[in-house]
Amino acid sequence: MKTEKTASITASLAMVLCLGAGAVWPQHAAASLALAQKYSCVACHQPATKVVGPSWKDIGAKYGDGKGTAAQLAASIKAGSSGKWGAMPMPPQAQVPDADLQALAQWLLDGAK
Ligand code: HEC
Repeated sequence: MKTEKTASITASLAMVLCLGAGAVWPQHAAASLALAQKYSCVACHQPATKVVGPSWKDIGAKYGDGKGTAAQLAASIKAGSSGKWGAMPMPPQAQVPDADLQALAQWLLDGAK
């Protein structure tokens, strides 16, 4: 009985701490990497090495600094892409909700940091 109560207090405390940290630290980067993992983008994309698709770094270099917009990149991810980077096309990533596409696109434009 006593242990259960302690456990639940610890759990609530952990939650409060997490929420607190979210307010102080920008959670943006971690959230978007988590999204890239959640939607298996990482199966074809790596941070700095070309695998099946271009690296996050190369995408950031090509479209960052105002050379592309998040909306444009999000659309390209959703519909798939071909012929821009090489012979291998990217299949449409239609399973990703628009809000997450937008977050991923902005994260890539910011250099995937
Ligand atoms: C099956 C492998 C594969 C998966 C899964 C994949 N990609 Fe790609 N991606 C590619 C390839 C290959 C290209 C290069 C396409 C081209 O040449 O136009 C690419 C290109 C891109 C580009 C550049 C598009 C452009 O217009 O230049 C972005 C951004 C991108 N991927 C993001 C993502 C994100 C985010 C996900 C996860 C939701 C994802 N990719 C999942 C293979 C993949």
